[in-house]
Amino acid sequence: MKGGQYHLQCLLLHGLLLALLTSRAVSNHSQSNTNKKSYIVYMGDRPSDGSSISLLHSSMLQDAFGSQFVTKSVIYSYKRSFNGFVVELTEEEAQKMAGMEGIVSVFPNEKRNLHTTKSWDFIGFSQQVERAALESDVIIGVFDTGIWPESESFNDKGLGPPPSKWKGSCQVAAGNFTCNNKIIGGQYYRSSGFFGPNDINSPRDSEGHGTHTASTAAGKLVNGANLYGFGSGTARGGVPSARIAVYKICWSDGCFDADILAAFDDAISDGVDIISISVGISSGLPYFKDSIAIGAFHAMKNSVLTVTSAGNNGPDRSTILNYSPWSLSVAASTIDRKFFTKVQLGDNKIYEGISINTFDLKNEMYPIIYGGDAPNTTANYTGPLSRYCLLNSLDQNLVKGKIVLCDAAVSGRGPFFAGAVGAVMRDQGPHDYADLHILPASFVDLFDGAKIFQYMNSTSTPTATIYKSNEANDSLAPYIVSFSSRGPNPITPDILKPDLSAPGVHILAAWSLVSPVSQYTGDNRFVPFNIISGTSMSCPHVSAAAAYVKSFHPTWSPGAIKSALMTTAYPMSSSINLDAEFAYGSGNLNPTKAVNPGLLYDSEEVDYIKFLCGQGYGTRFLQLVTGDNSTCSEATNGTVWDLNYPSFALFTSPLKPISHAFNRIVTNVGSPMSIYRAKVTVPPGALKIQVNPNVLSFTSLGQKLSFVLTIEGKTDKSIVSASLEWDDGVHIVRTPIVVFISIS
Ligand SMILES: *[C@@H]1O[C@H](CO)[C@@H](O)[C@H](O)[C@H]1NC(C)=O
Ligand SMILES: *[C@@H]1O[C@H](CO)[C@@H](O)[C@H](O)[C@H]1NC(C)=O
Ligand SMILES: *[C@@H]1O[C@H](CO)[C@@H](O)[C@H](O)[C@H]1NC(C)=O
Ligand SMILES: *[C@@H]1O[C@H](CO)[C@@H](O)[C@H](O)[C@H]1NC(C)=O
Ligand SMILES: *[C@@H]1O[C@H](CO)[C@@H](O)[C@H](O)[C@H]1NC(C)=O
Ligand SMILES: *[C@@H]1O[C@H](CO)[C@@H](O)[C@H](O)[C@H]1NC(C)=O
Ligand SMILES: *[C@@H]1O[C@H](CO)[C@@H](O)[C@H](O)[C@H]1NC(C)=O
Ligand SMILES: *[C@@H]1O[C@H](CO)[C@@H](O)[C@H](O)[C@H]1NC(C)=O
Repeated sequence: MKGGQYHLQCLLLHGLLLALLTSRAVSNHSQSNTNKKSYIVYMGDRPSDGSSISLLHSSMLQDAFGSQFVTKSVIYSYKRSFNGFVVELTEEEAQKMAGMEGIVSVFPNEKRNLHTTKSWDFIGFSQQVERAALESDVIIGVFDTGIWPESESFNDKGLGPPPSKWKGSCQVAAGNFTCNNKIIGGQYYRSSGFFGPNDINSPRDSEGHGTHTASTAAGKLVNGANLYGFGSGTARGGVPSARIAVYKICWSDGCFDADILAAFDDAISDGVDIISISVGISSGLPYFKDSIAIGAFHAMKNSVLTVTSAGNNGPDRSTILNYSPWSLSVAASTIDRKFFTKVQLGDNKIYEGISINTFDLKNEMYPIIYGGDAPNTTANYTGPLSRYCLLNSLDQNLVKGKIVLCDAAVSGRGPFFAGAVGAVMRDQGPHDYADLHILPASFVDLFDGAKIFQYMNSTSTPTATIYKSNEANDSLAPYIVSFSSRGPNPITPDILKPDLSAPGVHILAAWSLVSPVSQYTGDNRFVPFNIISGTSMSCPHVSAAAAYVKSFHPTWSPGAIKSALMTTAYPMSSSINLDAEFAYGSGNLNPTKAVNPGLLYDSEEVDYIKFLCGQGYGTRFLQLVTGDNSTCSEATNGTVWDLNYPSFALFTSPLKPISHAFNRIVTNVGSPMSIYRAKVTVPPGALKIQVNPNVLSFTSLGQKLSFVLTIEGKTDKSIVSASLEWDDGVHIVRTPIVVFISIS
């Protein structure tokens, strides 16, 4: 999901390539270590005495497997922020370890995938917004592919030395990476995998993705930024004075759990305030076998909010990849920028497709040929397959110098390497975002595709040309883009996920100068700014907004910051977005409002402990992960509905009578004396939702008052979208309420 902008076919192709690369890496691996692979042995919280912890890890291994066990196979020892290690084990050895005293979980070191700046103006966050003097004390840890430090976005002019709380470092190592007062830390982590020809052993970004996300979060203002004239304007991050700490965890073949955890172990202790991680693994892992959820838990425990991307596996339900209650999960919405690319045929008819085409064919007409009529027979392709225009499937002699019509929205590498001038792609896939291809290309719908095909069939010398794209205003924006992963939460359906949406489509931000615009080798376009799409792009918008809130309220907990962002989000429409809250969570990010939310639904470690107790995690488990004397008993048994979450979700059966209560506590952070009245909005139908009391009278700041929300009735609707608003005449504190009957 590099940037997440690929259509399904391309994802498959890409996946195949990755599988090939990985199997090579793994086979090399097993030459030295029969049947062993690396496992993460997670042991919960950091013990008080961290100094002897590596010793502890090796003695545990020797106890388990005898003194001849080679402890040099320990790849990482985590000890700064939590306890654990990564080691090469056979499956049997891993099972044995999992049953040992003091171990929370053992799971394989899997690979994950990666999932401006008009977007800020689009959500009403102008250059002129009020800034807190403390903004330059806020540090955002960006876990990604590294960074391109020479980018103008990371110029440190005007910034003083790093805040004194900063304990991180800059790994200069091989190459020429340097930090400055904007990029105050740079580390890279690499436990396994295949070192590709473009990988650089340093925090330097050879891919572009990490540079893009970091600059979206905290890039300086750069005037005149654009991609070949597209998206022209001032590029800027949400918090241009905040500091960036780079943790490079992703390489050309993906991002490994062991490295993700190593980065969390460091970042939490280094003193970052917000962690931004636009990475995900296939859904459904329990919280404590998921490296991002484990890392985010320890981050939360140490007052650090982790912001994650929801994933790019939409539009189906239950496709969300990051869903732990203690992290913030971000869906991708559109901004008012879209791209059209015209295709003109020899009969002068013009069809409008979608793509970001930076090439200019200067209106010159070229022969157009159907991919299905040009199979590379030496590679054993036939028409029914070559029509998809995959790599190597086309006959160079037949397509060279021509435009190719393809029956799939693909990367364009097939036609490009066969010498084609351009490609017209037709597919039934979604048309709500534009891809950027390696050659002149336009993606048309099946209706126009059929007409183009008819024209080609009607003449012996069909010709066509493809124009440079037009940038246009999408007046329907914002809506949730098709690829954005949807809820519900696969592990705890009654915790609504995703939490929020933010701009993630056609985002212009800084880029790595060694990564071509299309990210494919062979493309000779190297630029300082690029336009890409993905929940990877929406995540750093929220990380920046969280940093912005933190700069005004340095003592707020991660739960409080999350609540402020969620309860002030712009409501989105369930009539445009069919999956409603499962698409957009609380709504679209509104950073300006989030600074002054009125009320907070705060939550701290103790609340999550109660939640976990109620989820069946026992005392022994809880004491390991918390490192304290937390117990799970009747008294500390919290239900999922009583976790003080800033949203309400209830999974039920069709037409089953419901009578359900949710307890919540809100903290006054608005005006000392204020009276909030509850307003519940429910679609007409069988459900009755009440709030008791429905008036909350505060007399001081920081005061906490509780209320109960009850849902009664029954439904046969796939999802009922309701909401609760607390309104004091100044603040509207909005939380979504969803009742649903189906997970998929
Ligand atoms: C695997 O090992 C061979 C020989 O040791 C080496 O040439 C090759 O580059 C390695 N492949 C990978 C993917 O590391
Ligand atoms: C630093 O190294 C990278 C990769 O090796 C190279 O492409 C780049 O030009 C170098 N940059 C500077 C500023 O020397
Ligand atoms: C194509 O098929 C023939 C006959 O089945 C086989 O001998 C040849 O190796 C194949 N070529 C490729 C490139 O797969
Ligand atoms: C067919 O594909 C092979 C790679 O599998 C490539 O080497 C060859 O040049 C292609 N042939 C033609 C005629 O395009
Ligand atoms: C292509 O043209 C032939 C004859 O001119 C016609 O029989 C056929 O139906 C056409 N195919 C399409 C898909 O238009
Ligand atoms: C795009 O269209 C909307 C609705 O018509 C309008 O409010 C907005 O100002 C337009 N944006 C631009 C950049 O023209
Ligand atoms: C846990 O320990 C703290 C002091 O370390 C103590 O104040 C608290 O009462 C203990 N809690 C329980 C549940 O034992
Ligand atoms: C917590 O409550 C649940 C549901 O009522 C129950 O199944 C579980 O046994 C309780 N756990 C403890 C430790 O009391």
